[in-house]
Amino acid sequence: MNPGATRTPRSENEEQLLAQAERLLPSGVRSNTGCAEDALVVASARGAIVTDCSGNDYIDYLLGSGPMILGHAHPAVIEAVTRQLEKGSSYLALNEHAVELAQAVVERVPCAEAVSFYSSGSESVNYALRLARAATGRQKILKFEGAFHGMGDESLHSNQWTTGLGEGRAAAGGTAARPLAVANSAGLPGAVTESVLVAPYNDLAATAELLAEQGREVAAIIVEPMQRTLVPAEGFLAGLRQLADSSGALLIFDEMVTAFRLARGGAQEAYGVVPDLATLGKTVSGGHPLAVLCGAAEIMEYLRPGREPAAGGVMQTSTFSGNPVSCVAALATLAELDRPGVYQRLAASGQRLRAGLDAAFAAAGIEACSSGHDTAFEAWFLPRPPRKHRDTLATNRGRQTEFAQLLLERGVLKGHEKFFVCTAHDDRLLEFTVQAFHDAAGALAAAGE
Ligand SMILES: Cc1ncc(COP(=O)(O)O)c(C=O)c1O
Repeated sequence: MNPGATRTPRSENEEQLLAQAERLLPSGVRSNTGCAEDALVVASARGAIVTDCSGNDYIDYLLGSGPMILGHAHPAVIEAVTRQLEKGSSYLALNEHAVELAQAVVERVPCAEAVSFYSSGSESVNYALRLARAATGRQKILKFEGAFHGMGDESLHSNQWTTGLGEGRAAAGGTAARPLAVANSAGLPGAVTESVLVAPYNDLAATAELLAEQGREVAAIIVEPMQRTLVPAEGFLAGLRQLADSSGALLIFDEMVTAFRLARGGAQEAYGVVPDLATLGKTVSGGHPLAVLCGAAEIMEYLRPGREPAAGGVMQTSTFSGNPVSCVAALATLAELDRPGVYQRLAASGQRLRAGLDAAFAAAGIEACSSGHDTAFEAWFLPRPPRKHRDTLATNRGRQTEFAQLLLERGVLKGHEKFFVCTAHDDRLLEFTVQAFHDAAGALAAAGE
């Protein structure tokens, strides 16, 4: 393993695989920078190292887009999964590990009195929104501009790709204080767009105004408590709690990124605000398909089979949800996260990286900063950390992409919109990374001259 080494050119095998994928998997060829020339094919991953099919090792801050908080192929997860595989991988019928995992979630997450399992975050968000409609008898959903909630019809409005990420994207709708719902995809029913209200994140007054006008129709306010890497302003989440209560809407925290990462009890614990419902991912999954919907027992009751739709019954079934392999992976992950000092060590690693990033930009004379949580943060070419989605649009996208490319060339793989930190990022890897920050920032400054 040779992380931090200069990337070697693609092998013939990797070139062939990419060409084949380009033909057969039109949506499947990915690069962390958004540039086709940076796409790679992963051959294996272990700890904090990902290896491509050309034999290049990368220090991984993409981490499967968040789930791999223990690093790849963690021995405790492998052992739990291997043991379970011999006993079968999917039953549909209830299994003891699903019950044990539900108990573990209830013990950790403040809003969780009852739990439901799904195979993806998008699925769990869809059920959360449907449940909110069923429980309130209302139709509209209020989301925040720039928030990502997955691939459901409502969720695919005004997400972070609404503006600013390249030509041809939909333009921002409405004004900064009163954004309009902008569809992020073709194929969405127009009626759904009409049911989505959009408010600016971290703007309680604008959210209150919107609710004053249409609050009686709103079934749910859904928010990423830390939206992407925008940190909630003091009082923002508590204010949303009050607005939800006064308007009769449910408050949903989408904790697909923050659950079990910001703290043992997720953002609810970290920020001290308890929603009615929460969707939890990806960290809990140990890298297996699993997402959680949880919340107040009386709301979750609407999922109980046998309840008529006219009485608010929400039908739910999904072949792989709560499968024992994902559940044992999750239990093993949560047990590892419960070891003393894990969250402190994760935060310390993130702090070291962020300090290294700041120092690298300062040394290179580049105006840049970072925002987010120490274990999930982004670098911005902005004078100060963004607070709202529209602040992020002012970043120098070209430089942001170039910086990610320069890091990739130096063996550092970041996510397209954040650096995720895991327990396998040890001293040596952090040091390599900080050195790569300095080298990449220096190269960026030289290129800009
Ligand atoms: C906040 C948030 N919600 C929902 C999702 C969708 O999750 P999935 O990709 O598992 O469907 C994501 C995925 O990145 C997410 O970050």
